[in-house]
Amino acid sequence: MKLFEEKKFNIPKLEGISEKTIKEHLQLYAGYVKNVNELLQEKNYNRRFPFEFDGMRNHEIYFSHLEGGPTPLLTESPLSKVDWEQFKTMALTRGVGWATLYYDQTSKQLISAWVDEHHLGVLTGLSPILVLDMWEHAYFTDYTPAEKKKYIEAFFANLNWQTCEDNFLEASGGK
Ligand SMILES: [Fe+2]
Repeated sequence: MKLFEEKKFNIPKLEGISEKTIKEHLQLYAGYVKNVNELLQEKNYNRRFPFEFDGMRNHEIYFSHLEGGPTPLLTESPLSKVDWEQFKTMALTRGVGWATLYYDQTSKQLISAWVDEHHLGVLTGLSPILVLDMWEHAYFTDYTPAEKKKYIEAFFANLNWQTCEDNFLEASGGK
């Protein structure tokens, strides 16, 4: 059986998201990797597995977005045609989960959708292009719940769009 390794992320100092938040958030991610490996090694792994696995995988995509410093969204990119205001409104949905932009290889289009917790409502067979963590632990050190919108803006201000472009190219067969 192949176990998973905790990935290391080189995240620069961010605007509006503190080092404390990132440090504690990375520790939380490490917990998901540990739990995934423990469950994989159990003979009958239980119904908790999708939660732990998607918790691990979503965080890996999320932290990759924050690596390397912000880069611009290019106007010629298909990603610039996404309705990002609508995406941000969806991210403000009450409850914990992930605002997700997917690419659907079957219908050849980008689709935004909300995922409850880490795994509930994940769209089958679609590839995540951008994931935004909307669990309280992602922002409560820096913002009050009423200021959630500021965290969303901070995330986009720090976003390395190239990571999303890479995900898109890979998902759409462009590379
Ligand atoms: Fe998180």
